[in-house]
Amino acid sequence: MTDIQPLLDVRDLSVVYESTGSAAVEAVKGVSFTLQRGEFVGLVGESGSGKSTLGFALTRLSKPPARISGGTILFDGRDVATVEGEELRVQRHGGFAMVLQSGMNALNPVRSIRNHFVDIFRAHGHVARADWEARAAELVGKVELPRQVLDRFPGELSGGMRQRVSICRAMLGDPDILLMDEPFAALDAFTRDDLNLELQANSARTQATTLFITHNIDEAIFLGDQVVVLDRRPGRVALVLDVELPRPRPLAVRETREFADYRGLIRRTFEELGVLRRGS
Ligand SMILES: Nc1ncnc2c1ncn2[C@@H]1O[C@H](COP(=O)(O)OP(=O)(O)OP(=O)(O)O)[C@@H](O)[C@H]1O
Ligand SMILES: [Mg+2]
Repeated sequence: MTDIQPLLDVRDLSVVYESTGSAAVEAVKGVSFTLQRGEFVGLVGESGSGKSTLGFALTRLSKPPARISGGTILFDGRDVATVEGEELRVQRHGGFAMVLQSGMNALNPVRSIRNHFVDIFRAHGHVARADWEARAAELVGKVELPRQVLDRFPGELSGGMRQRVSICRAMLGDPDILLMDEPFAALDAFTRDDLNLELQANSARTQATTLFITHNIDEAIFLGDQVVVLDRRPGRVALVLDVELPRPRPLAVRETREFADYRGLIRRTFEELGVLRRGS
């Protein structure tokens, strides 16, 4: 336990989809958890359990028909669940959150990395044009990419480099929280392992507060300071687990007894929820 005010304090949050002509769908129900500044949280749950809905609601990026139907989202102590219009725009402008979705594939193959960055600077008008180049160079330096990467095209970069570019891009708007929604779902196991190591190193360097959504239990434990397990739809929090494995974590940590204990706890939770068959 800590007495430091969390960066994000979600209490009893519910989200519904309300389309005209069809019954409302309760996608997230009564979710509570906290995110400390600099913390990495893995969010796991079966398909359809409401992970993306929750991620979007937290960062106030939900679009109709999604609607926050209850609860509070305290961001740095202020309730942002009910903020609308200009006030919300101002908060986002200050970089209250940013989505990095399928980061690897989100890069346009015919645009240079510099142009990808420029697009974000334009969208987030708070970096003066004269400072674009310096800011871009500073960010690529932070993730240990050479400055020349700005002149390259996505296809000329390795998977790890593309990931670093994607993270930079997400950080251009100065987000307080990085939301990663299944960024590695489409990748083979080896590439995924590599990128997990990369991401861990990046998180250590940048200290970005991260909400990482995945179906993969091992990935959530490997990367997370905390793992939040969602129940089947409507998503509620079934388990919050503090992962106390020392960092940096080698991939082989997954073979250890401690890791197996965390995995066992999450699997048993999923069995009790009926998401996994017992003994599977
Ligand atoms: N636009 C929409 N209108 C109505 N229902 C929706 C809409 N988008 C999502 N839902 C429903 O909300 C529930 C949660 O969806 P969500 O996309 O958050 O799940 P998820 O956990 O991210 O799943 P996945 O792991 O497959 O990405 C699902 O049952 C889905 O059918
Ligand atoms: Mg999803």
